[in-house]
Amino acid sequence: MSRTVPVPHGLPIDRDAGPFDPPTAITRLRAARPVSPLVFPDGHEGWLVTGYDAVRQVMADTRFSSRQDLGVIHVPYETPGMPAPTEPSPQVPGLFIAMDPPDHTRLRRKLTGAFTVMRMKQLEEHITDIVGRQLDRLAGLTPPVDLVQEFALPVPSLVICELLGVPYADRATFQVNSAKFLVKDQSLEEKMAALGALNGYLAGLVTSKRAEPGEDILSDLARQDDLSVEELTGIAFLLLLAGHETTANVLALGTFAFLEHPGQLAELRANPDLLPDAVEEILRYLPVVDVLYRYATEDVEVGGETIGKGSTVVVSLLAANHDPRRFDGDPLDVHRKARGHLAFGHGAHQCLGQQLARIELRAGFGGLLRRFPELRLAIPAGEVKLKADMNIYGVHELPVTWTAVRR
Ligand code: HEM
Repeated sequence: MSRTVPVPHGLPIDRDAGPFDPPTAITRLRAARPVSPLVFPDGHEGWLVTGYDAVRQVMADTRFSSRQDLGVIHVPYETPGMPAPTEPSPQVPGLFIAMDPPDHTRLRRKLTGAFTVMRMKQLEEHITDIVGRQLDRLAGLTPPVDLVQEFALPVPSLVICELLGVPYADRATFQVNSAKFLVKDQSLEEKMAALGALNGYLAGLVTSKRAEPGEDILSDLARQDDLSVEELTGIAFLLLLAGHETTANVLALGTFAFLEHPGQLAELRANPDLLPDAVEEILRYLPVVDVLYRYATEDVEVGGETIGKGSTVVVSLLAANHDPRRFDGDPLDVHRKARGHLAFGHGAHQCLGQQLARIELRAGFGGLLRRFPELRLAIPAGEVKLKADMNIYGVHELPVTWTAVRR
């Protein structure tokens, strides 16, 4: 078998198998060699992990670091104007998603209390109200409407703003800049400008919360003297970005997926008790957060291969979640018990906001299907603009229509 997989333009990410499935090149690779050597665009060699068991193993093994300041992490996407990395990126204060223990543990621990299952359960009614108000607004509009702008983006944005104590009125600043920051092909200057604007905004916000704390998560953090303003800004950035971009894309892309699987949708409508399982299944099925990067701090055996110390390891959550060896038969199935999927990652960095996301998704999909029994796409499915150009996948717009029903 050849030493490296010929991937001249980095990770093969063409959506040639449809908007939801892994690209055929990835599916073939997973069947042939679930832990495969990979050549990055700059010629550097690394590893691509696509099999469910191997992805889970990498995510659980702390010898695979999340730090970007430890070694050079090669990414398969090129930002115009950005030379191939030759030096590690500096550590960003507060950005604990890119840290290892003990720094990661110290910062994550400060937030676990705010995101427990119990705490989230207490918020469920409130989140359902937010969804209900947004659905009322939607019902008052004349279709066709863009579901992203009118529902999928506002719901998680309103929720995370309220939890963090970020004024929703400032959404133009954080939504536009976070979207710019996530565009793969954005020039380095524009990315830095978007990042600077977001950081400047959040630094001002946490500084004012430190001076005058309120009743929200950022204020609770700002009360703690052992966190610097830079750390508070990094944490706020992570929570705000992770808190609205991901869930919004699952709501919009998930609605598209349900509409494209009318048999499954009919079963869900006929039996709303299936909703919790259907939400797990849609999380498994969608490629919203597909690839994650790790850096091997030692030689590690995975799936019969030796990943050498210093390698960049790319794991594909999408490929793992569609691995037929783990998820029998693979197609979208609202009856499936999909627990064990890796949409929220696995191991020390497993998504902190997953209970919040589940509540938002159950309330969001449940409310939408109940209130709009005739919801359908307003354009042919092939014309839906997919976010192939973004680091978090979804749809740019989802034009939908319905026949108004008297309530
Ligand atoms: C981490 C996915 C919603 C906050 C992660 C990771 C994934 C993920 C895959 C692991 C990253 C890694 O290992 O490098 C998702 C998906 C969501 C979602 C698919 C929606 C359906 C949220 C929400 C929040 C959130 C609503 C709210 C605050 C975080 C944070 C981390 C994280 C703070 C970093 C955890 C750590 O490093 O310890 N998420 N997420 N996420 N997520 Fe989420």
